[in-house]
Amino acid sequence: MARVALVTGGSRGIGAAISKALKEAGYDVAATYAGNDEKAAAFTAETGIKTYKWNVGDYDQSKAGIAQVEADLGPIDVVVANAGITRDAPFHKMTPEQWQEVIDTNLTGVFNTVHPVWPGMRERGFGRIIVISSINGQKGQFGQVNYAATKAGDLGIVKSLAQEGAKKGITANAICPGYIATEMVMAVPEKVRESIVAQIPTGRLGEPEEIARCVVFLAADDAAFINGSTISANGAQFFV
Ligand SMILES: NC(=O)c1ccc[n+]([C@@H]2O[C@H](COP(=O)([O-])OP(=O)(O)OC[C@H]3O[C@@H](n4cnc5c(N)ncnc54)[C@H](OP(=O)(O)O)[C@@H]3O)[C@@H](O)[C@H]2O)c1
Repeated sequence: MARVALVTGGSRGIGAAISKALKEAGYDVAATYAGNDEKAAAFTAETGIKTYKWNVGDYDQSKAGIAQVEADLGPIDVVVANAGITRDAPFHKMTPEQWQEVIDTNLTGVFNTVHPVWPGMRERGFGRIIVISSINGQKGQFGQVNYAATKAGDLGIVKSLAQEGAKKGITANAICPGYIATEMVMAVPEKVRESIVAQIPTGRLGEPEEIARCVVFLAADDAAFINGSTISANGAQFFV
C-alpha cells in the first residue's frame, strides 16, 4: 500500500512542488492551505491531489484536519511542515502582532502539525518529519527577527524530535532553502531581487522542484539513518 504524506501549505510555491514530487514518487498526498480557495481548487484540478483548509497556527483545527486526512487516506507516514509566512520589518518598527503572527504560523504551526501524528507514528514504528526552515534561520536577516527566530527554532525542533523518535523508526530533518523563485520572492521589487541574486554564487534563484527533491530523498524508507540533519539548498550562498 502507498505511504501517505501530508504537506502543509502544499497548494502553492515550494509546497506545491513538494506535493507533486511526492505524488510522482508514489505517495498518497494531502496538501493543506490557509485561505486561497481559488489556488487550491486550481491545484487539485491540475494534479488530482486533494486539498484541505485549516490554519496551522490553531491546534484544534490542525488536529481535526489531520483526523479528516487520516479518515480519507489512512495513517500519515510522512509530514512535511512547509506552511510559512513573512511579516518583515526592521526590529524597531516590528509590531507585537507581526511577531506573534509569524511565531503562530511558522513555529507553533510545526508543533500543531507534528504533535497529532506523533503517537500514531510511534505505534506503527515508522515516520518521516521534514520541516522547511530557511537560510535566514541559519544566518539571520535584516528585517526578519520574527521569521529568523522561527526558522532557527525549526532546527531545534527537528534535532530534539530526531532523538525522541529514533528508537521508534521516526526521523526528523530540516531543509534550509535559500532564495527560491516563488510568489513570496517574485513579489519583491526587481531591483531588490537582482541584489539578492548577486549574493548567490550559482547566479540564479532556486526552483521549487530543487527543494522538492530533497524532501523525496528524506521521506524514503531507506533514508532511516539520516536523522536530525539539515540540508542546505541555497546555491552556495551560505555555509553552516
Ligand atoms: N520562497 C523562498 O525563497 C523561501 C526560502 C526559504 C524558506 N522558505 C520557506 O518555504 C516555505 C514555503 O514558502 P513559499 O515561498 O512556497 O510560500 P508561498 O508561496 O507563500 O505559499 C505558502 C503556503 O503556505 C500556506 N499557508 C500560509 N499560512 C498558513 C497557515 N496559517 N495555515 C495553513 N497554511 C498556510 C499558504 O496557503 P494559501 O495559499 O491559502 O495562502 C500556501 O499554500 C515557507 O515555510 C517559507 O518560509 C521559502
